[in-house]
Amino acid sequence: MRRIYLDNAATSFPKAPGVVEAMARYASEVGATPGRAAYAESLEGGRIIRACRERVCRLVGGESPSHVVFTLNTTDALNLAIRGMVLHRRRAEPGRAVHVVTTALDHNSVLRPLHDLAREGVGVTHVASDASGRVSPGAVRAAIGPDTLLVALNHVSNVTGVVQDAAGVGRACREGGAAFLLDAAQSAGHMPIDVRAWGVDLLALPGHKGLLGPLGTGVLVLRPGMERVVDTVRQGGTGSASEEDRQPESMPDKYEAGSHNAPGIAGLSEAVKFILSRTPEAIWAHERQIAGLMFAGLREGGAVVGGESAGGPLAALTLLGPGEGIERAAIFTLVHGSAPAAELAMVLEQEFGVLGRAGVHCAPRAHAGLGTLAGGGLRLSFGAFNTPGDVGCVLEALAACCAV
Ligand SMILES: Cc1ncc(COP(=O)(O)O)c(C=O)c1O
Repeated sequence: MRRIYLDNAATSFPKAPGVVEAMARYASEVGATPGRAAYAESLEGGRIIRACRERVCRLVGGESPSHVVFTLNTTDALNLAIRGMVLHRRRAEPGRAVHVVTTALDHNSVLRPLHDLAREGVGVTHVASDASGRVSPGAVRAAIGPDTLLVALNHVSNVTGVVQDAAGVGRACREGGAAFLLDAAQSAGHMPIDVRAWGVDLLALPGHKGLLGPLGTGVLVLRPGMERVVDTVRQGGTGSASEEDRQPESMPDKYEAGSHNAPGIAGLSEAVKFILSRTPEAIWAHERQIAGLMFAGLREGGAVVGGESAGGPLAALTLLGPGEGIERAAIFTLVHGSAPAAELAMVLEQEFGVLGRAGVHCAPRAHAGLGTLAGGGLRLSFGAFNTPGDVGCVLEALAACCAV
């Protein structure tokens, strides 16, 4: 049976052309710790890592490839940004209150570090979204106070797919004097990102989702100068300034202690090359077409969309999130009137080869706001390689599930 992979919001599959080959080449031909020794293989490893930094920097409109820091995943990048800023503030201004603003749509990779820091006295405000599923820049601005250090914004909801106004929130941060951390877990590689135009100080992204690279890769892009207010949360060997106990201040070594995931970064570099050549604009146009077809198919099939249904074979399904007219990525979370999401996911896989993900998708506050924290939903998330034909198959499979 044909398998249609619709869990691209967790990690993309398949990966970009050339990724597996680049990883295998690193492992079988290069091998060495990149850039730490003077022999040819190590120098070649260093070149591969540098090329990846340059490509990621170009992709997001960054200023400096040396401010592209490799991490394990988005979670790791977000932890470095949040904890590193809080640590710096505490050391620089002991006794001053620390406040962080985030949203009720954010992922546990933001909510949990903040929950942990709240136990140590950090103030946290979760700004709610409005009926459109968007967080208004005005509400963010109103939440910023004199001690607000940072605003963390989920760019695209991994539950509803709604795209936030990153540029507007960036302006609110500048007005309020807070740093702006954008979680691009569901947007990087799917759509154009411009950190300079949007006033992003810190950008966290996965290498393994929309960028179409391997699992185990992530990136934190810092606006040059931010390294002076983000302390290291992990220290160790960098192959530079090795005669000192102290972590070097030079970029990117400051944040990259220990050996790199060099085969993974080699794969990521090929993936970003592919995205740059296909262009984020063209990928976004394709994914918006897919999202439009899926949205229209659900609505025409009678699913409850934006609180309304015309009746039809999909009438038992409710699409979480807003209705027409709101920009959204190709991420759809559905709730069935009687069947639990896990059962729907199982039937879709076993009988129709459609792979989705049931649950609350590590976004408990988003689901709580939608009234689905208890049962969660079934998420179907499309990627760069899905086709309009896949949308048709999924809609047919959903209709068949609803018929029984
Ligand atoms: C919005 C959002 N932020 C962060 C993450 C965490 O990403 P990673 O798996 O790369 O740590 C995810 C993953 O699902 C996500 O959807």
